[in-house]
Amino acid sequence: MDKFVIEGDRQLTGRARVSGSKNAALPIMAAVLAADGPLQLSAVPDLADVHSLLRLLETLGVHAERPAENQLDLVVETTQPHVADYDLVRRMRASICVLGPLLARRGRACVSLPGGCNIGHRPIDLHLKGLAALGADIRVERGYVIAQATRLRGTSLFLGGPYGSTVTGTCNVMTAATLAEGRTVIEAAACEPEVVDLGNCLRQLGAKIEGLGTPRIEIDGVDRLGTAQHRVIPDRIETATLMIAAAITGGHIEITPVRPDHLVAVCEVLERTGVRIERSTGDDGLPALVATAPAALVATTLTALPYPGIPTDVQAQLMALLCRAEGISVVTDKVFPDRFLHAAELVRLGARIVREGPTAVIHGVPRLSGANVMASDLRASAALVLAGLAAEGTTTVRRIYHLDRGYQRLDEKLNRLGGQVTRSDDRPGPAPPHRAGDPRKHARRLATNG
Ligand code: EPU
Repeated sequence: MDKFVIEGDRQLTGRARVSGSKNAALPIMAAVLAADGPLQLSAVPDLADVHSLLRLLETLGVHAERPAENQLDLVVETTQPHVADYDLVRRMRASICVLGPLLARRGRACVSLPGGCNIGHRPIDLHLKGLAALGADIRVERGYVIAQATRLRGTSLFLGGPYGSTVTGTCNVMTAATLAEGRTVIEAAACEPEVVDLGNCLRQLGAKIEGLGTPRIEIDGVDRLGTAQHRVIPDRIETATLMIAAAITGGHIEITPVRPDHLVAVCEVLERTGVRIERSTGDDGLPALVATAPAALVATTLTALPYPGIPTDVQAQLMALLCRAEGISVVTDKVFPDRFLHAAELVRLGARIVREGPTAVIHGVPRLSGANVMASDLRASAALVLAGLAAEGTTTVRRIYHLDRGYQRLDEKLNRLGGQVTRSDDRPGPAPPHRAGDPRKHARRLATNG
């Protein structure tokens, strides 16, 4: 298990390259289970979550090759397996993305329920409701979803839930519907760019899909999906994290390749805090965003919402930024109202944060000071790393495996920008040799230490 040791209070400046989107790559990789031919992907990030899904896909009969860095060729070699085992699914919730494609192509799927999560309650009832509406017989037994259908049937269905639509639920139902008989209309579909990217990949495979990026997606089922070559979109959450790295360290970073249209809400909120955001073209000719910190950050109020709102996946990083902003900020998360475990750790770095239900109130402080902190989930780790970059002194962020699930070598990227982040093994060293001591001294020590 690794940790980061960060020497803070350094301006980050320069150029950074963003990897392909984790949350687009995962359902796209799973979609190969619905296709006959090879799926050749580029800009696949090299991440722990991608490796976890590859292991699962291999148990489901998929052969994978990496012809070059960030490229992935996938092909289904056998369509017999249909069980996604608990030991593999529990490592990563996005494993649930295999449910729809397996069911649609193999007629049956047995997928472990993903289990608990540090960012709040994460049911999959909407996934199951959508697949049941397509005619699947679904039951949950011994911790597994067992789904069967000779052939799915197109229908109209509604995917809205108490916190908006569902991103991976829309991915599951949309992929399954591509092979259903007749037309499916998904109302209250998720509009996130990652869903659109999956839809575009499915279209290349031969699916007939309209309305991507809107809450109403229409799918005309086809008999088979073929082959495709697809480039995964740039990771908008990593882009936002790097923009915040510039803002929180008083720096200036050019980030490429980016899709500015995926980041409108994030840019707007950063501009409200005083950050200057400019569009430009990177050295490689690809679209870039340049974030420049203001002399002083200004407090603001923000709410994380489904796309095109501010992503919940940037809420923690924005909170880290607002810890340094002059005035009182209010941050609410309407997608995951319990996603606040980072707040207590930010307080360890000197932040002033009070949480009330789905909202946190942040009193900006002029300086943060380095401390030992513990990452609780992927985006919380990013927030702690950002705060550590801005803090005076040394910050140690433990359980960096959370960060590695979703950011490709973030430490190296930050160091190229002038950060000083050292990765090291956090396993406890060997216990010191036992020395027989004076039992009276030992008793005195215990009494003093409480
Ligand atoms: N929800 C339900 N029922 C469902 C599904 C979801 O009530 O059947 C609720 C959830 O509890 C939550 C809300 O609906 O309150 C949205 O959940 P959603 O299903 O959209 O989340 P997800 O698909 O499981 C994806 C991302 C998350 C991201 C969310 C929201 C992937 C692999 N994961 O999760 O990413 O936070 O959408 O945008 O795409 C991350 O990358 O750090 C991450 C957690």
